Amino acid sequence: MTDELLIADLEVSIGDKKILNGVNLTVRQGEVHALMGPNGSGKTSLAYTLMGHPDYRVDAGSITWRGKDLLAGPTPLGMSPDKRARLGLFLAFQYPSAIPGVTVASFLRNIYNAVHHPKPAGAEGEDAIKYTGIPLAKFRRMMEEKMAMLRMDPSFASRYVNEGFSGGEKKRLEMLQMAVLNPELAILDETDSGLDIDALRTVAEGINATLSPEMGVLMITHYQRMLNYVTPDQVHVLMDGRIVMSGGVELSHQLEANGYDWVRQQVGLPVGVLDEAGAPEPVAEHA
Ligand SMILES: Nc1ncnc2c1ncn2[C@@H]1O[C@H](COP(=O)(O)OP(=O)(O)OP(=O)(O)O)[C@@H](O)[C@H]1O
Ligand SMILES: [Mg+2]
Repeated sequence: MTDELLIADLEVSIGDKKILNGVNLTVRQGEVHALMGPNGSGKTSLAYTLMGHPDYRVDAGSITWRGKDLLAGPTPLGMSPDKRARLGLFLAFQYPSAIPGVTVASFLRNIYNAVHHPKPAGAEGEDAIKYTGIPLAKFRRMMEEKMAMLRMDPSFASRYVNEGFSGGEKKRLEMLQMAVLNPELAILDETDSGLDIDALRTVAEGINATLSPEMGVLMITHYQRMLNYVTPDQVHVLMDGRIVMSGGVELSHQLEANGYDWVRQQVGLPVGVLDEAGAPEPVAEHA
């Protein structure tokens, strides 16, 4: 099968700290997978590793996307993030950064061109000058359509990227980027966090409108509520550096009701808080 993201036995470290310790996961185009797990379990690290963040060192395992090895390349870091983006990967950040001085419209047009209309390699002189990417008016129309879909005020187009944006506005801008880029594999890192009830529905509608049989989604979330709107084909639990449990949408309800100690009991992991030596301490009973 080549229409899939295939993660096999993936081990990742930062410095000398092991974060992922044998992750196996397959996301096919057209499928939505939810990834849940306690704070600090490595969900964002997995997302960054998939996009090629240079701090996250792959110690073992493989990542292939539609048959292409993302870890192959002239450097140990594998394929660069921009190349991965051109292959259709997209990451919506858990904590989006501000880019003062760059307007939303200019940013979006630049990322659109970088992914879909890159300047021809080696273009110089007149060819480089002739390069304009997508015509401005055409891009504007497309951007405004997508902004309307996400119920964003058109005035956002001329504001600086994320500068002074509220938490929910930042998340909406991440979704606007996804809608404009139209990726084939979208990794959404807690896109639902910080959204009010109406915004959650709007963002979910935006995701559903962008979904297609060509698009796979890996949706990192702590809460089952987003999954009421965007129905996952599978739900996975990341814990202790690996995916310890997978199931259907009912798994997210069980997690909400029972918490992660329940998962630990189910899969035979030590229950309790780890002390500094890594040995489990019993969790204090409430009186
Ligand atoms: N650049 C870094 N330097 C040092 N430690 C890091 C770095 N990035 C991540 N970590 C550590 O790796 C572990 C996994 O972090 P990560 O952000 O992937 O967790 P997460 O599952 O996304 O958590 P959350 O649900 O809180 O977002 C944490 O213990 C974190 O402190
Ligand atoms: Mg995270």
